[in-house]
Amino acid sequence: MDFFDRQWSTYRRVVDHDLMEHQALSAATTAAIEGWLAQRPQGAAPPHMVDLGCGDLALLAPLLRQLPLGSYIGLDLSAPVLPRAATQLEGVPYPCAWREQDLLAWAEAEPEPEPVDLLHSAFALHHLSDDDKARFLELSRRHLAPDGLLLWADVFREPGEAREAYVARYVERIRSGWTPLEPEQRQEVIDHLSQYDDPADRDVIQRSAEACGWRWHWLWQGAHRAEALAMLTPVR
Ligand SMILES: C[S@@+](CC[C@H](N)C(=O)[O-])C[C@H]1O[C@@H](n2cnc3c(N)ncnc32)[C@H](O)[C@@H]1O
Repeated sequence: MDFFDRQWSTYRRVVDHDLMEHQALSAATTAAIEGWLAQRPQGAAPPHMVDLGCGDLALLAPLLRQLPLGSYIGLDLSAPVLPRAATQLEGVPYPCAWREQDLLAWAEAEPEPEPVDLLHSAFALHHLSDDDKARFLELSRRHLAPDGLLLWADVFREPGEAREAYVARYVERIRSGWTPLEPEQRQEVIDHLSQYDDPADRDVIQRSAEACGWRWHWLWQGAHRAEALAMLTPVR
C-alpha cells in the first residue's frame, strides 16, 4: 500500500466506525440541504453545487445521488480521490466536474458567470491558517448566489481554547477511545493532526465571517466539543 492508500484507508476506518460522528453530521447536513431546497421559490433553476475538499464521496454520495442539482463540482487537492468520487456519482442526471485544485486558490479565482448556489466543505478548511480561513470567507462569498448557502462541517476549537490544548485533548480522545484503529493507525492520525490541523476558534471565526458579510448559524455540534456544522448565508 502506498502512502496515500494507507492514509486514506485509515480515514475510511475512522468514518466507518463513526469516530468523528460522521453519521450525525450527515443527518444534519441532509436536513440543512433539504430545508434550504424546500424554501427555494417554486420554479427556481436547479442549484449548482461546489464541494471543496470532496474526498472520495463515500459518505456524501447517497445524499448527492438524490439531490435535484443543476450541476456538481468536486474539488480536491489530492488527485487520487477524484476518480473514486467520480465512481460514486456515476449515472446521476446532472453534469459533474472534477478539479484537482487548492480550495483557497478556487476562492481567489474570478467567480464563474454562473454563481454557486450550494457550497459545501467538510473537514478540509481546518488545514488553512487562521488568516487564510478569514481570506477564504471573504473571497468565497463572491462566488455565491445572493440566496446561496455555505455549509461548513469541520473541527473547531472551543472559545478561547489554545491550539495546544485542543490538540492535547483530541490526542487523548484518540488514545483512549479510537480502539477500532490499529496502534500504528492511531499514531498516524495523531502525527497528522499534531502537525497539520489548525481548527478555528468557534467565536473568533464566527465574528470574522460576520465582519465580511455572512450570517452564521450553528446547526449541529458533536459530543466531543470539536466536530460541528455551521450554515453561512450572505447578508443581503
Ligand atoms: C478529511 S478529508 C474529508 C473528505 C470529505 N469531505 C469527507 O468529509 O469525508 C479532507 C479532504 O480535504 C482535502 N483537502 C485538504 N486541504 C485542501 C485544500 N487546501 N484544498 C483542497 N482540498 C483539500 C484532502 O485532500 C481530503 O481529500
